[in-house]
Parts: sequence; structure tokens; C-alpha cells
Amino acid sequence: MEMKIIQSPAEMQLQAHTWKKEGMQIALVPTMGCLHAGHLSLMRKAAENADRIIASIFVNPIQFGPHEDFDAYPRQFQADCDLAEKEGVHVIFCPDTKGMYPHGFQTTVSVGTLSQGMCGANRPGHFDGVATVVSKLLHLTSPDVAIFGEKDFQQLAIIRQMVRDLNFPATIVGAPIVREEDGLAMSSRNKYLQGEMRTQALCLYRSIQSAQKKVAHEQQVVAADTIIEATKKTVAEAGGKLEYAVVINEHSLQAETLVGSSSVLAIAVKIGGVVRLIDNSKLFTTMK
Ligand code: PAJ
Repeated sequence: MEMKIIQSPAEMQLQAHTWKKEGMQIALVPTMGCLHAGHLSLMRKAAENADRIIASIFVNPIQFGPHEDFDAYPRQFQADCDLAEKEGVHVIFCPDTKGMYPHGFQTTVSVGTLSQGMCGANRPGHFDGVATVVSKLLHLTSPDVAIFGEKDFQQLAIIRQMVRDLNFPATIVGAPIVREEDGLAMSSRNKYLQGEMRTQALCLYRSIQSAQKKVAHEQQVVAADTIIEATKKTVAEAGGKLEYAVVINEHSLQAETLVGSSSVLAIAVKIGGVVRLIDNSKLFTTMK
């Protein structure tokens, strides 16, 4: 089956309904394009879970702040299509802004407490933009499963909550973080890392690794503050600017004072004063 490119939301909805009537299981992989191995791993997971794979490519203006990189966000549509086709994607859904947000659009989906801390505190309105566009994408593609990366840990938690709260008939599947050989989490924004910024960017993964080591080797329960202080130091030494470092419960995203079996270290750092990177990892401990 040749890969189809669909721009019209109405046509996308019709195609999805036709597949449903034919008894096909549909998987959705929402992206903003500039595809890398992280995105492709989601498509592979989609193929394991469904008969038809839809990958959306839409740089969603309403999830960018007024001083963020919407205009500069890297776009490479043809290369993305080639990559997606190799992964067996059946439809690329690539609406334009007018198609998604026609004149007079005025509805927002807002997920409560989960959207407030971490990235939500530093990017006002960002998660409302994400929840709104993902709601629309779910309605337009009727997926049985939708795949999201654990790289955007807070985003994944918010989508899971939204799908539960609003009774979307889709299963949300999380996929592990794909990293470069040296540990940097893959991101479309890594394209912005020039010269020594690329080396500085390793401070996120280095912080995660040393936290994991500490938790695994310590014979007693580790205080979250110890991990956070060590992260602050690692990031400062590399010349990065820490936006946040938190030890949180993987489900509630609430801060934890002691590292437990459901703890996650989540970090956001600005490199070179401009490139904002995030990373996270579960902190495996045998302590209760
Ligand atoms: P984008 O940043 O393009 O990411 C699309 C999906 O790829 C997300 O689920 C993200 O978590 C996942 N992803 C990104 N880097 C990854 C990596 N290194 N390993 C594994 N998965 C990775 O996230 C968005 O777009 C948007 O907010 C979107 C959900 C599409 C809504 O506009």
C-alpha cells in the first residue's frame, strides 16, 4: 500500500472512518516533524499495535509561547515523508494552521494540576496547546492506540489523564527515550546545538547517570535533595542554565522528598542561553 499524504482534516476523518468500518486497527503517532530515530521508534511501536499507521506532522502554533521558536522550528517535510514511508506509515496527516484552527476557533482543552509544574510553570499555556491539538488529532484519526515518547514525560502524563477524563476510546502507549550514542536524548531541537553547545548538552544525561548510580549503590534511602543538588552542580559546571530539576512520582508528578520505587528525575536546561532541552529517567531503587 502506497503512503498517502492527507492535508484536509475532513478527508483524514473520512479515511479513518472507512478503515474502522473495514475492521482495521488504527495507530496514531503525533509529531511536529523533523523526524529522528526517536519518532521512528514510535512508528515501529505503532506497527506492532495496529494494521494502519497514521503519523501526523503539524507544528502546532498554539503550544508555542510568543517568544518561543515557532517560526524557527526546523521543518523538512520531504525528508520526513521518506523516513515515515520506510517505517511503513500508511498516511501522513499534515494539516495547515487554517485547517486546524479556522477563523473563530475558540475552544481549549486544559488538564488541571498535572499541567502546572515543571515545563508548565516555565511555558504558560503550552500544555493547553498540546491537549487541544491532541484532542483534535484523536477525533480526526479515531485511533485504537496513540503512541507518545517518555522523553516528554509530563506531556505523556497529561495526555493519559485527558484520555481518561474525556473518555477517548484510545489506548495511550508510552515509548522509551531514544538517545544518541553519547547519551543525549534525541530531539528536533538538537539541530540548534552549535559547536561547544553540543558538548554542554551532555550535562542532562550526565546528571541522570550519576543520580542512577547513587540510587543503585546507596545502602539507604536517598534524599531527593541530594540528587537535585548534584544535578545543579553538574549543569552549572557544564555552563548550562538549570530551569528545573525535580524528583517526582511517575504517576502524580508530585515532588518526592525521598527516592522511592516510583521516582523519576526530570530536568530542563537552557544551553547557550537559547536552546531548551529536557530529559528524565526513572531512578531504580531497591529501597522502599
Ligand atoms: P515532537 O516533539 O515532534 O514529538 C513527537 C513525539 O515523539 C512525542 O510523543 C515525543 O515524546 C516523541 N519523542 C521525541 N523525542 C523522542 C526520543 N528521543 N525518544 C522517544 N520519543 C521521542 O511532542 C510533540 O511533538 C508535540 O507536543 C505533539 C504531541 C505532536 C503535539 O503537538
